[in-house]
Amino acid sequence: MAAALWISGIGTALAIAVAAVGGPAGLAVEPVRATAGPAGAATAGCADCHVAIHDEWRESRHGAAWRDPAYQRALRDRARPERCHGCHAPQPVQERLGRQPWARDAERDHGVDCAACHAWRGRIAGPFGAATDAHDSVAHPAFRPDGSIALCGSCHDTTIGPVLALARDFRDAQLAERGKSCIGCHMPAVTRAIATDGADGAPLGPERRGRSHALRGPGDPEFCATAFKLGVEVVQAAGAEWLELSVGNRAGHRVPGLTTRSFHFRLQPLTADGRAAGAPLLVTIGADNLLAVAETRRFRLPRPPGATAVELEVEHEHGEEKVVLTDERQPL
Ligand code: HEC
Ligand code: HEC
Ligand code: HEC
Ligand code: HEC
Ligand code: HEC
Repeated sequence: MAAALWISGIGTALAIAVAAVGGPAGLAVEPVRATAGPAGAATAGCADCHVAIHDEWRESRHGAAWRDPAYQRALRDRARPERCHGCHAPQPVQERLGRQPWARDAERDHGVDCAACHAWRGRIAGPFGAATDAHDSVAHPAFRPDGSIALCGSCHDTTIGPVLALARDFRDAQLAERGKSCIGCHMPAVTRAIATDGADGAPLGPERRGRSHALRGPGDPEFCATAFKLGVEVVQAAGAEWLELSVGNRAGHRVPGLTTRSFHFRLQPLTADGRAAGAPLLVTIGADNLLAVAETRRFRLPRPPGATAVELEVEHEHGEEKVVLTDERQPL
């Protein structure tokens, strides 16, 4: 019964989104049009049956895209803050797949909500096309690894404020052709019933191979560290011995991906008894020297006398915070 209500909610939202797309041509350039449509109202309803997915999403940066204090602060000095809302409180992206979404008026605090990604012409688009009485489902290529660039790129392909066009990097480097995908790295695989009864937890379908909506991102130090392939080697050059640090980018785009973030590398040569042998090599990679996709950059320090080992520390600077990603010793 209640399910029917949500579906009619989605249908209404979509009808409005479609009308907006069909609006004056000028709107396509400046997608600030907001509607009174309840596109976001669907989120609470979805939670009744997609309990685990909803919990993951709510804690994710997508769930927090409107509430994010950094976002709310940034709006304060904007003459036309509504220009920003298209990605932080969007209408469904499916109707404009690959282009910046329209902004939404209703339930903005739901941020990038369920309907933003899944609502499609009054139906629910997903990876399977699983039949259910709850809603009309349809399999859509944007929910498969090789098609996800279109979905994610709707919002991650524009350089605006501190945000960089990461989807463009991914596309230019032809990483999809090498089996990589946005969801492959950022949404970990899980096998489970994708819908459960909100009251007793009973599965409402078979176990399926799907993905977690707990977006893995730079806020997770273990994940963030996978961005780099690090190496330290002793090399001979210009008649001297050097310690060479190599930093390779293994992410699907340049790093960092926001102009306000940076990575600090500290290579400390050590003596046999673990004391510092000379000054460390200090390197920062940030907005003015971003590491491109697949790039490896090398840095050298003359090998200090008595250095038999090194300690390598990597830190991520993230707003006011600095988080250690790696702290390792290795013999030379
Ligand atoms: C085209 C889509 C899009 C639009 C339009 C947009 N943003 Fe964002 N915004 C993003 C994405 C994507 C991120 C996350 C980027 C990341 O974490 O790498 C983000 C993150 C942010 C952050 C968080 C930065 C942090 O340090 O955590 C702020 C602040 C922000 N945006 C401000 C704005 C402002 C102000 C506007 C309007 C001028 C705006 N955004 C318009 C897509 C958009
Ligand atoms: C009354 C329970 C119920 C509600 C409410 C509900 N769903 Fe579902 N949903 C299901 C069931 C059952 C399935 C199919 C489970 C299976 O076969 O594995 C499903 C499947 C899905 C799928 C997979 C589609 C596919 O086949 O690829 C998506 C995506 C989805 N739901 C999203 C949503 C969203 C978004 C909402 C809110 C707008 C929502 N659902 C509301 C019960 C519900
Ligand atoms: C409707 C717009 C939209 C779509 C579609 C979208 N994102 Fe986002 N994404 C955002 C915004 C906005 C933020 C930043 C929220 C904030 O922190 O203020 C964000 C944040 C993120 C972050 C967290 C970055 C951080 O700094 O922690 C990751 C990772 C991410 N998105 C990946 C994806 C992937 C993968 C997809 C495709 C499945 C996707 N996004 C689709 C708008 C979108
Ligand atoms: C940023 C886009 C985005 C948002 C927001 C989003 N999803 Fe998804 N969702 C996806 C993608 C991509 C997949 C396909 C994952 C895969 O390959 O299995 C997916 C898959 C699903 C599935 C199928 C099960 C699975 O693991 O594949 C369900 C059900 C679902 N989502 C429900 C929801 C619900 C409910 C919400 C809101 C609480 C939500 N989604 C929010 C992108 C999104
Ligand atoms: C090969 C794995 C991989 C692929 C593919 C990938 N990413 Fe990432 N992404 C990472 C890693 C690792 C980080 C953490 C490094 C960082 O934050 O700079 C990251 C960071 C991010 C961030 C946060 C940037 C920042 O500096 O705060 C966003 C947003 C993001 N990815 C979105 C995407 C989108 C959208 C796609 C598809 C176009 C994508 N990623 C493809 C691994 C990947």
